[in-house]
Amino acid sequence: MARSAANTAPAEREQWTGQTGFILAAIGSAVGLGNIWRFPGVAYENGGGAFLIPYLIALLTAGIPILFLDYSVGHRFRGTAPLAYRRIHPRAELLGWFQILLSFVIAVYYAAVIAWAGSYFVFSFGLQWGDDPQGFFLGEYLQVGEPTISTTLVSAVALPLVLTWAVILIVLALGVAKGVEKANFIGLPLLVLAFLALVVRAITLPGATDGLDALFTPNWGALTDPEVWIAAYAQIFFSLSIAFGIMVTYSSYRKRKSNMTSPGLVVAFANSSFEVLAGIGVFSALGFLAHQQGVGIADIEGLTGPILSFVTFPAVISQMPGGSLFGALFFGCLVVAGFTSIISILQGVSGSVQEKFGLGIRQSAVTVSAICAVISIALFSTTSGLLALDTVDQWANNIGVVTSAILMTLLLVWVLRRGEELRFHLNAVSTFQIGRWWNFLIGVVGPVFLAYMLIQKVVSLLTDGYEGLPTWYLITFGWGTIAFVVVGAFLMTATPWGRLGQEPFRPWPPYPPGTRRPVADEEASR
Ligand code: ALA
Repeated sequence: MARSAANTAPAEREQWTGQTGFILAAIGSAVGLGNIWRFPGVAYENGGGAFLIPYLIALLTAGIPILFLDYSVGHRFRGTAPLAYRRIHPRAELLGWFQILLSFVIAVYYAAVIAWAGSYFVFSFGLQWGDDPQGFFLGEYLQVGEPTISTTLVSAVALPLVLTWAVILIVLALGVAKGVEKANFIGLPLLVLAFLALVVRAITLPGATDGLDALFTPNWGALTDPEVWIAAYAQIFFSLSIAFGIMVTYSSYRKRKSNMTSPGLVVAFANSSFEVLAGIGVFSALGFLAHQQGVGIADIEGLTGPILSFVTFPAVISQMPGGSLFGALFFGCLVVAGFTSIISILQGVSGSVQEKFGLGIRQSAVTVSAICAVISIALFSTTSGLLALDTVDQWANNIGVVTSAILMTLLLVWVLRRGEELRFHLNAVSTFQIGRWWNFLIGVVGPVFLAYMLIQKVVSLLTDGYEGLPTWYLITFGWGTIAFVVVGAFLMTATPWGRLGQEPFRPWPPYPPGTRRPVADEEASR
C-alpha cells in the first residue's frame, strides 16, 4: 500500500503559506509564559520603570541582532539547527544539537505549566482554590513533597499533561502550514483579544493605579546594579525564543525570496509590546489585591513565576466581582500563549529528527511527542515536579541558552568567519538593510556581555546554590540538565545522517566572487 506523503520524508521543504503566516507563528512563539508570568515580576524586582532602559538596550543590542542571526542561519542554509549548522561546517552540527536538546528540555517542563494552567482554567469557574490559594496549589493540587526523586504520580497534573501532549502531537503531525501555522492563526488573535479584555478589566479595578505606580516608578539606582542588566538580557533571550534553535527552524520554512529583517522587527516589537501590556494587566490586578487587603504592593508575596500565576492571581480572582470569568480569561490566555510557544519549541525538535533520520512528518511528530510526553509525565507530574521544574528551568535558561548564544556568535563570527556572508544574505533578501553595526553587536557586544553574565551566574550557583536545595539535587537536576544536553549533542552528531545530510547544498543567493567562497559542495555533503 502506498504510504501517504506525510508519512514519508517530503522531497520539498515545507513552507509557510506566506509572510503573514510566518510573522504570526514567530510572534506566537515569542509571546509565551515568559511574557505573562516572568516579565511583570522581573521588571518590578529590577528597578520598576527604570528596568525598561536595560530591557530596551538588551533588545536593541542583543535581542534583535541575535534574532537576525538565527534568521540568517535558518533561511540561508535551509534546515533546522543541526542541518543548517552542518551546512555551514560539518563540525558545527554539534551546536545545532546543543540548541535542539535545550529545546527538548525546555519543552518537557513548559508542557507541565500549560497543563497546570489548563486545570486552573477549569478551577476558575468554581473558584476551587477556596480561601487558601497557596495551600491549594502546593498541597492539594501539586502535592509538593521533599526534594527527592519521587515516583508518585499526581493524577490531577498527569491527566491534563497527557491531553496537552496529545494536542501538541496532532498539531505537529499536521505539518508546518496545516498544523503550526493554523494553530497560530487561530490562537494568536484569540490571545490578543482575550488579553486586552483582561487588561481593560484590570485597570478599571480599584487600586489599579497603585499597582501601576509600583511597577513603573523608576528606581534609577538599580541601573548601577549588574544583576539588573543580567535580568534584562536573560528576559529578552527567553522571550524572543532566540539561541535555542527555534527561530533557525522557523526561518528555514520561508521561501528563498523572503523579506527577513522587517518581519523580524515586527516580531520583536510586538513581543515587547505584549510584555509591557502584561506588566500593566498583572500589576493593576496586584494593585487591586493590595487595596483589598489594605497593604502596599511590596507587602504582597509571590510576585513572579509559578507563585504569581497560581497563588497570587487566584487570590486576586477570589476577591473581585466576576472573578470566575476573569480567572478563566487569565488561565485561558496562559494556555494559548504557552501552547503557541511550545509548538515552536517542538517543531525545532521534531523537524531536526525528521531531517536527520529521513523520517516523515507524522513519524517524527509521533516519536518526538511520545518521548517528550513520557519524560514530561515521569518528571513533572510527580510530587517532586515543581521543584524539579524550577531547577531545570533555572539551569536550562541561565546556563544553557546563554552558553548557546555565546557559542553561536563566537563560532559564526570568529571561528568560521561567516558574519559578512550572513549579513550579505539578510540584505540580499530584505527591505530593511543592516550595516556593519550588526557584525559589531553579534561579534563583540553580545559575546562580551553574555560571557560576563554567564560567569556571574555560574559563580553564584556554585557558591550560593539555589533556593536552599541540597547539593545532590542541584547536581542531578541543574548541572545534570547541562550534562544531558552536552552528551546528547555529541551522540546525535555522531549518529549517521539519512538522505538530506548526504545531499550537496548550495546557498542562495550565491556569495559574490572575490569574497570568501560559499560553502563547498563537498563540505556540505559530508
Ligand atoms: N518565548 C517563549 C516564552 O516567552 C518561550 O515563553
